[in-house]
Amino acid sequence: MKILRILALLFLMSSKIFIKIGRVIGKFSHEAFGDVIQNIGINESTKYNMLGTESEIYYLDKYWQILGKYLGVLSAGDLILDLGCSQGRFAHRLAVEHPKVKIKGIDLSQRAIDYARDNSPKNSENLEFQVQTIRECLSAQADNSVSVIIMTEVTVFYPDWIKDIPDIQRCLRPGGLFIITFRSRYYNLLHCIGNDNWEALPDILEKDEGFLFGNPTKFQWKDKFQVSEILEGTMGFHLDEIYGIGGCSGIDGDPFARITMPENLNKDQKDLLGQAEEKIGRMIPDASRYMLAISSKSV
Ligand SMILES: C[S@@+](CC[C@H](N)C(=O)[O-])C[C@H]1O[C@@H](n2cnc3c(N)ncnc32)[C@H](O)[C@@H]1O
Repeated sequence: MKILRILALLFLMSSKIFIKIGRVIGKFSHEAFGDVIQNIGINESTKYNMLGTESEIYYLDKYWQILGKYLGVLSAGDLILDLGCSQGRFAHRLAVEHPKVKIKGIDLSQRAIDYARDNSPKNSENLEFQVQTIRECLSAQADNSVSVIIMTEVTVFYPDWIKDIPDIQRCLRPGGLFIITFRSRYYNLLHCIGNDNWEALPDILEKDEGFLFGNPTKFQWKDKFQVSEILEGTMGFHLDEIYGIGGCSGIDGDPFARITMPENLNKDQKDLLGQAEEKIGRMIPDASRYMLAISSKSV
């Protein structure tokens, strides 16, 4: 018993040392190799399939409950850009529900785009996928040519999206929608507290981007005041709504997964969870997995 306890202690100590080493290496390697390291980390994240996971389908439905009314005003020929589309869960649904609208999904991951193409809905001629970075896609786009830009669950891995703001403003047509999500500060706090990672807390409280969990990828997180400051203050857009997605549940590895995971629930339970998350999403968007912000470019 004593030996087991010593072994467990040794394991705990070594894992903490590795996290510390990982953090130092992460910071150093990022300074030295910047975008290359970031893109490797992002590419790795696309091994997780967002199209075929039941919990992600649940969250897609939650997004749709909010987005439906905004997307209802689209006209034939309008263009939607789904930036960082991964396996295409948003683009596919858009293509089915808006057959007369053009949808372009882009992602830097070849693996994700291959999967998105292979699993495209039937007769979705209005849908196109391309391996591209967000910057490449936006800079090739003509002024005022896009009706909707969607960037869901992307900024968490791509803090540099801030540099794309001038292109986002330029490409969107007047009145066009900018739909973006942000990882909440609260989520990261819970994650660290839940994993006994106390040293990361000051950074999460005081900063809004950096290296977490011994990972060389740079992450970004926000609270709702910062979100409105960026969209209204920096971008001069009209902020329609900030809404929380996943206030009472999560996916494997999330702090919220300790409460529940949608994939483990039956239909009735999922419906009840959905009602609870809808209320909480409106009341306290900061206390969710992601904050969904819908804004529009001034006419
Ligand atoms: C968590 S997934 C979200 C996927 C999708 N938007 C959704 O909500 O289902 C994040 C995706 O953003 C992509 N991504 C991150 N930074 C990018 C960049 N600079 N250019 C293109 N894709 C990027 C990643 O490759 C990944 O597929």
